[in-house]
Formats: sequence, C-alpha cells, structure tokens
Amino acid sequence: MELSAPRLIRRIEGSSRIGSRVWHTPSVGSTNAALRELADGGCAGHGAVLWAGEQTAGRGRLGRKWVSPRGAGLFVSVLVAGAENRILYSMASLAIRGAISSIHHIPCALKWPNDVLVGGKKVAGILIEQRSDDAILGIGINTGMTRPELDRISPEATSLLVATGRGGDHAVLLDRLLDHLEEQYIRSSRSSDLVFQEWKSALVTLGHSVEVQTARETWRGVAVDVALDGSLLVLNDKRLVRVYAADVRIRTR
Ligand code: BTN
Repeated sequence: MELSAPRLIRRIEGSSRIGSRVWHTPSVGSTNAALRELADGGCAGHGAVLWAGEQTAGRGRLGRKWVSPRGAGLFVSVLVAGAENRILYSMASLAIRGAISSIHHIPCALKWPNDVLVGGKKVAGILIEQRSDDAILGIGINTGMTRPELDRISPEATSLLVATGRGGDHAVLLDRLLDHLEEQYIRSSRSSDLVFQEWKSALVTLGHSVEVQTARETWRGVAVDVALDGSLLVLNDKRLVRVYAADVRIRTR
C-alpha cells in the first residue's frame, strides 16, 4: 500500500453518496493507483474518494505525467460504479466547471476531450481508468501554481492563482466538487443523454477550425460533433475523421 498516514476525514454512515468516504494522505504516487489498491483490498466502494496533498507519480492522459507538487493543486480520485466513461467525462467536466465557477465566480470553458479551461488555458484535467465494472475517476485542478512553474509544464496551462489571484482552500474546493459530482451523477442516472448533451453544447471545440496532433502527425480541420462513443468528428478536406486520442487546439487565425 502506497498510502502514507491515511486519514479518514469525512464519513456519513450508510450513505452511498459520492464523497461518503473521503481519505486524505499527504503524499502518494498516484491517487488513481492508490484508490485502486484500496478498492482491491475491499476498503473502498462506490463514492469513495482519495485526496492527496501531493503526487510523486501523477498520471495524465496519453501516458503523460501530471505534475503534482505539494499544495499547488487538488489531486483526487473517486470510485464510481455503473457509469459509462463517456458520461463520466461529461459529468466530471460539468462538476469541475460548477465547483470552480461557484467559488471563484469566473467563467470556465470545456474543451474536448476532458479539459477545463479558464481564460483559454487548461486549469484542470480528468483521467478515468477502468476497474472491472467500476471506474476510477481522477481529477487534477491546478490551484496554487505560479506562472513560471506553469511555464515549465506548458504555456497552455493555468492555475486558479494565476487566473484569479488566489489558489483558494483545497478542502472547500473538494467539498464543492463532490457536491457537484453527486448532482451530476444523479442527473446522469435519470438521463445520461441529458448530461452528455449539456457537456457537448458547452464545448468550445465544436464549430471551430482545429489542429489535431497525435504522436504520428499533425493536421487541420473543422470540429463538427462528438459521436456517442466520445470521439471527436473533424471535417478534413470533405472527409469526416473520427479522433479518439489526440491534442486538439482551437486555431485562432
Ligand atoms: C490530463 O492529462 O488531462 C488528466 C490529468 C489527471 C490528473 C489527475 S490528478 C488525480 C488523479 N491521479 C492521477 O495520477 N491522475 C489524476
């Protein structure tokens, strides 16, 4: 077990809510990996949350690492039962947007496939990993990183500190995030299509000229839709191309 000094900080007996059980650890390799171990050991079920002060081996999408220094971000994983990945990404994006904008009173935009933007730059990312019928939903939100620290990661990244002048209280942000996730989970169990359509209509990507970058090539087209399997449909020279895994930049000129 990777956890150092796990601390149970919130528990509502008998509740099946997201966040009914929240574990906190000052430092961990990856909250996604550690929550999987807790679940494999029978210690975590639907709604269990693992929150870390720092990650020493944080994982990003496309096999990248997620830079997770102490105090500079919210690093959290949630075990979710019975939701399709496409819906989970939609739920999580809407929940992150809701939590950030309700605390910081700033507009957040959503970008395919799973990014949350503030001021046109990425402030949060989502990584979902499958565990039999459950999913481990990992969320990273850049809170306290300074501009020079962010520039070492990417000029396209931002933090709440840079965008608003304050990184904010992580416990408050987590609490709000879990409330929004629970709300989206309930909405999606009534109508997953509603949540998917809401996410889709909030995407800044659609209708724009984009640059698609994969490990092998970079090409341009117009993003026209997101299919039911979550792939981005890009019109490239009269051909509709399905994009499953890539970096997609909106072209401004
Ligand atoms: C992305 O590349 O956009 C996804 C980043 C996801 C990072 C979060 S931080 C908490 C959780 N644990 C991890 O190792 N990764 C996710």
